[in-house]
Amino acid sequence: MKKVGVIGGGVMGSGITEVISKAGIDVVNVDIYPSGLENSKKRITKDMAYLVKKGALTREEADLVLRKITYSTSYESIKDCDFVIEAVPEKIELKKELFSKLDEIVTKEAILASNASALKITEIAGGTKTPERCIGMHFFHPAPVMKLVEIMMGKETSQETFRKSLEFASRIGKIAVPAPESPGFIVNRILVPMINEAAFLVMEGCNPKDVDDAMKLGANHPMGPLELCDYTGVDITYGTMKALYDGFKDEKYKPCPLLIEMIEMGKCGRKTGQGFYKY
Ligand code: 3HC
Repeated sequence: MKKVGVIGGGVMGSGITEVISKAGIDVVNVDIYPSGLENSKKRITKDMAYLVKKGALTREEADLVLRKITYSTSYESIKDCDFVIEAVPEKIELKKELFSKLDEIVTKEAILASNASALKITEIAGGTKTPERCIGMHFFHPAPVMKLVEIMMGKETSQETFRKSLEFASRIGKIAVPAPESPGFIVNRILVPMINEAAFLVMEGCNPKDVDDAMKLGANHPMGPLELCDYTGVDITYGTMKALYDGFKDEKYKPCPLLIEMIEMGKCGRKTGQGFYKY
């Protein structure tokens, strides 16, 4: 594994870029928007400063991590990558179009992975002529800290792609768990309805802090569900819940109306300064 491409300079894209460079692999972070790349660079630089400050890395080690990353607005810069992971917004048409583009540009031996959190890799790979090299590889926020990567095979993914993806996950210090292609895979199918239920409690009059305290103290969760919702984004939680609802066509996955109301009011969590809490 000599060079990896990560498409998308958002929170997940920058986190995945950081994980790969920390594993000592050259990585190109591509975003068509220069501002996306700027933000990605800022986040990774800030993380490195934090790790140096707490003594987890030396300044030299942190600088080496930063030097392994190249930022680019051109897809051409990933044509010789061995592995490419996309982390662009969760929209099927966008991901399909991107995969079709990557299929043309990236060397045929490379694997094309998607960090989609609820969409099917079979459908995303439908935009390519080589679905056998496409695979789902779902990271968790914050990517540099969370150990898990869910691996989803599409209907046409080859065993070779699956094997190489497991090897890659291990090479970058993650633990891979194979998961079904069904909406939400394993973690989001369980986690997001829990957050949705917590939002219903608030809608019925509960105090967000009480709900969070109860789950932290009674279930040993590191963050309460509403804190976590603010942390990952109210819009992201709603989007995943809606994908479960649309995918399973089951009323039990109906998104909580409070989430919709909060998004309409621009209360999307930490990134907007307000969600269930003020920041
Ligand atoms: N690289 C390496 N290590 C890092 C790091 C980085 N960039 N940033 C932080 N760390 C380390 C810290 O050094 C610390 O290590 P230590 O325990 O050895 O000191 C450890 O990670 C924890 O960091 P902090 O002390 O800063 O923070 P907390 O202890 O408060 O933990 C948390 C923060 C890890 C976010 C924890 O609250 C947590 O696990 N929350 C739940 C997160 C979760 O559930 N994520 C999943 C969301 S769902 C999802 O992602 C799906 C998607 O589809 C939306």
